[in-house]
Amino acid sequence: MGTKRLGIGLVGSGFMGRSHAFAFNAVGQVFDPPLRPALAMLADRDTEIAAAAAGALGFERAVGDWRQLVDDPSVDLVAIAAPNRFHKPIALAAFEAGKHVYCEKPLATSLADARAMVEAAERFGRIGLVGFNYLKNPIITLAREVVAAGEIGALVAFRGIHAEDYMMDPDAPHSFRTEPEGGGVLMDLGSHIVSLARHLVGPIEEVSAMAATVHESRPADGMRRPVPVEDHGHLVARFKNGALGALSANWLAPGRTMQLEFELTGTRGTIAFNQERFNELQVYAAGDLPGRGGFKTIVAGPDTPPYGNFCPAPGHQLGFNDLKTIEVAHLLAAIAGDVAPSPDFSEAYEIQRTIAAALRSATERTWVTVADC
Ligand SMILES: NC(=O)c1ccc[n+]([C@@H]2O[C@H](COP(=O)([O-])OP(=O)(O)OC[C@H]3O[C@@H](n4cnc5c(N)ncnc54)[C@H](O)[C@@H]3O)[C@@H](O)[C@H]2O)c1
Repeated sequence: MGTKRLGIGLVGSGFMGRSHAFAFNAVGQVFDPPLRPALAMLADRDTEIAAAAAGALGFERAVGDWRQLVDDPSVDLVAIAAPNRFHKPIALAAFEAGKHVYCEKPLATSLADARAMVEAAERFGRIGLVGFNYLKNPIITLAREVVAAGEIGALVAFRGIHAEDYMMDPDAPHSFRTEPEGGGVLMDLGSHIVSLARHLVGPIEEVSAMAATVHESRPADGMRRPVPVEDHGHLVARFKNGALGALSANWLAPGRTMQLEFELTGTRGTIAFNQERFNELQVYAAGDLPGRGGFKTIVAGPDTPPYGNFCPAPGHQLGFNDLKTIEVAHLLAAIAGDVAPSPDFSEAYEIQRTIAAALRSATERTWVTVADC
């Protein structure tokens, strides 16, 4: 590990904040990063929560106001794992203070805010990376290599879904995920399947979408309040390269815990993947002897880097936090100038623009060109 210190300031210590902390702690043991992350400061919504989390996660100091963290000279990188509406103000303040930013998805709560964040990253010349951690899966890198090598021929179709069931219960309460700005399943889960579609197939040119709210009220502040966002959304899409797609997002799919799944059809083969078994890739390539064809299952191992950094033996499986660790290794390399950040704020903006087009299409009941949003 490099000796140059990089002070980490983490905002938010929930599900994702803990995953960020895990990754910053693990990265130096698993990789040989050019910079040495130091857990400098943690901010949460009040001092007590921040202090408890900082103690548990190994941060040196804690504050109850993210502005203090952004301005603190010990912080070089601001990691944003707070609810979506905080992403823009924290990122803009961080860039202005000369800090790099590692922001959770979705980038912002509106396309205009996302644009302002892209511009700030460019204006202040700092690194901005967005937490689309599923793209960092070694088996997804392999899928891209299979596509690039022409093993499944020309791309024809992408069928993808991200379904979970954490909002299945009509009494699941309101949260930042149901706020009108930046909430809804298309922003929350749809952004992941769109990110994968763009990663594997390329930009989406136009979409036609439908969306519906199934549970029209949920508890908040001791009463039931209307739900202003969609519970499930579905879109058909035309990619710039001519491939066609069908993408779905659903957060009330009973029994589905992490169905981030796709099937990519080429003229000579197919790739299939499901995040619930994310160390495996199903590949079919035409050309087998009659009666001997079929999908083969490729299991992640040292031949699918950087799996080998975690474990020398194939088939032992990576976990969710390992993907975050790979993402953080990439982030440190980008800050050191060794690689271009990916997905950067511009790519996250394009993902958000595709979601915005889908939401507009669902409202206006018409096809929408993504570039028009
Ligand atoms: N990349 C992924 O796979 C993934 C998965 C889940 C969530 N996310 C994203 O991560 C972000 C956080 O989601 P989560 O599931 O961790 O939520 P969470 O509710 O578990 O955690 C949010 C944290 O932010 C804190 N917080 C709230 N208001 C704050 C404020 N004013 N200042 C500082 N901290 C504040 C909360 O106290 C909590 O610690 C969201 O943007 C979400 O979309 C990404």
